[in-house]
Amino acid sequence: MYYIGVMSGTSLDGIDVAITEFSSNGSFQLIAANTYSFPDELHRKIKRLIIEAHSSLHELGCIDIALGQLIGNSINHLLIEHNILNSDVMAIGSHGQTIFHYPINDTPFSHQIGNANVIAELTGITTIADFRQRDIAAGGQGAPLVPAFHKALFSSDTEDRVIINIGGISNISYLPASAEQPVLGFDTGPGNTLLDHWVNVQLGRTFDAYGKWAATGKISEQLLSTLLNETYFTKSIPKSTGRELFNPSWLDSMLSEFSANLAAEDVQATLVELTAQSIAKHIHKYTPNSKTIFICGGGAHNTYLLSRLQEILEPKRITTTEDLGLHPDWVEASAFAWLAYRTINKKPGNLPSVTGAEHSVVLGAIYPA
Ligand SMILES: Nc1ncnc2c1ncn2[C@@H]1O[C@H](COP(=O)(O)OP(=O)(O)O)[C@@H](O)[C@H]1O
Ligand SMILES: [Mg+2]
Repeated sequence: MYYIGVMSGTSLDGIDVAITEFSSNGSFQLIAANTYSFPDELHRKIKRLIIEAHSSLHELGCIDIALGQLIGNSINHLLIEHNILNSDVMAIGSHGQTIFHYPINDTPFSHQIGNANVIAELTGITTIADFRQRDIAAGGQGAPLVPAFHKALFSSDTEDRVIINIGGISNISYLPASAEQPVLGFDTGPGNTLLDHWVNVQLGRTFDAYGKWAATGKISEQLLSTLLNETYFTKSIPKSTGRELFNPSWLDSMLSEFSANLAAEDVQATLVELTAQSIAKHIHKYTPNSKTIFICGGGAHNTYLLSRLQEILEPKRITTTEDLGLHPDWVEASAFAWLAYRTINKKPGNLPSVTGAEHSVVLGAIYPA
């Protein structure tokens, strides 16, 4: 039977849909995948909702439904393209679009939208959504959830492995070879989100392809150390973050002291360095003995970022999850197919050592076909 995973992260670059197959012996196969971009108006509205945190309840309701429609239609499109019947799909795991992630204080929450009733209705497939909330109810951060999938798919009993997912935000999974040692996983800080913002403001591009523009700049050590002073980087684990912290206002407040003396490309180079160094600091602190670092997420395409990581982390080796048999673009969406598979089989989807939850729980709400 097939399971479908759907993911749309903080980058808002589109909705990733992965059709996967899990067999009863636990083996996993990616059958097909694609990214579906947001129509311009919906993209603008979601951005307004997330970045400016300005929307009426009416608009929030409309965006929730429109996203559900886009996700449902995208799934149907991919299934038709690959001649797979909807009735052959056991379940869809839809992460949804995070509009607010606030896993702290007395009333922690993480809210995702993209109406799952609409997805189930449009596809006729059982849909699972709201994966993060039960983990939070059990005392966890609700994030990151992908390390459990990384463990299932990528761990080895002969070598420690580190997976870094560089989406809008970056997260790490540390998969020790020894079963006695717990898997660790947390957000290391920004991934592409500040890079996308800065190149958009300066050059009007949605992202800096291959980091080519950043590579023309000069890293400002002064700006870098100011950025690295952010307390999130030294906060103890478990921890998770999002655009609620690493957003344009955060960057502007840091830049206000420097921008007069810095060329725009120097800022971009420094932001790449911030992503690379914040990832590297966490690798050194939590996984000092790791030898190979496997990158996934859109950041795997940023050649300049990868070269910075390689230089900073020498003699560790930087490669991508392609080496482990899964293309870096489809790891996160595949993770939500796996989480759906876990939920349907009444198996826990969270790792308490990662999210900080008091116990493991079956995640998600089920919207039957
Ligand atoms: N060719 C490329 N060069 C540099 N960066 C890229 C490239 N392709 C994708 N990206 C980056 O990856 C981001 C999308 O990554 P993704 O893993 O989908 O993040 P998210 O989970 O936040 O949606 C884009 O916004 C862009 O910054
Ligand atoms: Mg994406």
